[in-house]
Amino acid sequence: MDSLTIGSSLAELYHENSKQRRHDRSFGWRVATVGNSPSFQRLTRRPGKRYGGAQVIALPRPEPLDMPLHQAIAARRSVRRFSARPLTVPDLAALLMLSAGLPGGAGDGERTTLRAAPSAGGLHPTEIYVVVRAVDGLEPGVYHYRANDHVLETLDLDATAPARLAEASSYPEILETAAATLVLTAVFGRTTLKYGERAYRFVVLEIGHVAQNVLLVAPALGCGAVPIGGFVDDEVHAILDVDGVDEASLYLLPVGHLPPDPDPPEWAGGQEAVAAVMERLWSSGAVLSAPGRPDRGSARDG
Ligand SMILES: Cc1cc2nc3c(=O)[nH]c(=O)nc-3n(C[C@H](O)[C@H](O)[C@H](O)COP(=O)(O)O)c2cc1C
Repeated sequence: MDSLTIGSSLAELYHENSKQRRHDRSFGWRVATVGNSPSFQRLTRRPGKRYGGAQVIALPRPEPLDMPLHQAIAARRSVRRFSARPLTVPDLAALLMLSAGLPGGAGDGERTTLRAAPSAGGLHPTEIYVVVRAVDGLEPGVYHYRANDHVLETLDLDATAPARLAEASSYPEILETAAATLVLTAVFGRTTLKYGERAYRFVVLEIGHVAQNVLLVAPALGCGAVPIGGFVDDEVHAILDVDGVDEASLYLLPVGHLPPDPDPPEWAGGQEAVAAVMERLWSSGAVLSAPGRPDRGSARDG
């Protein structure tokens, strides 16, 4: 892939082909037919992976957070360096339950509706894995959060997992100091069966809902986090032992306590290449008025 092309034909192709159009009834038909199917409803009643045979660690129910929501929103900042202080299991339990768990309970037992994050059709394609480096009471390694039961499933107590995950990311220096990194994956099939081509949009949006919850709970616990989209996908999949096709990682969220001193300035690498592309973008007008479409004027002119 060319790293500095303008625009993305793949994205445009996908977007065009996943548009809902007024006179095309197939999307509505599909949603209604699949959504009303009793077998589909039965299969998707309590979505979420369960690792049979894994050692299970019960998590505590989180205490109410002290920080008002408006303060957590104002305090949220991407934190890229963490103190050496480990996370506690109650901290981790709060991050997990209040981002992707069922803080409101299991609902009416028919459909799980009381989750922390919304999901198209209540199908919840998001899974969370926790790669632990320094959490009091947990051995380093890879765990899966089984949201339905608010437990961790122990997948791989390999103490090298945090370092391997750091290397798989584009920012090893960030992950190396994080007490734990949450890896958000999506099981696409849960959503595609009902929503067809439009499902990919929903899945990615939903990962964002879950991630934002993590990013807001972190400051309320005196912690910080950063959403990371830059990583070598299949290396992350190998660490989690997922196939990268039916289930794939979309986000890394390193979490930890705040360092005593503030963050250093933003990383400065690659600034010349970026400046050259920006110059090309501005002077070609590609961002503001695509060829063959009406000129929408220049943002430079206001
Ligand atoms: C989709 C997405 C991907 C991101 N990926 C990275 C990343 O790979 N590395 C990184 O350091 N920050 C990443 N960030 C964090 C942004 O750089 C950060 O949100 C931005 O600089 C604004 O700063 P703030 O979060 O402190 O408001 C990502 C943010 C989003 C929303």
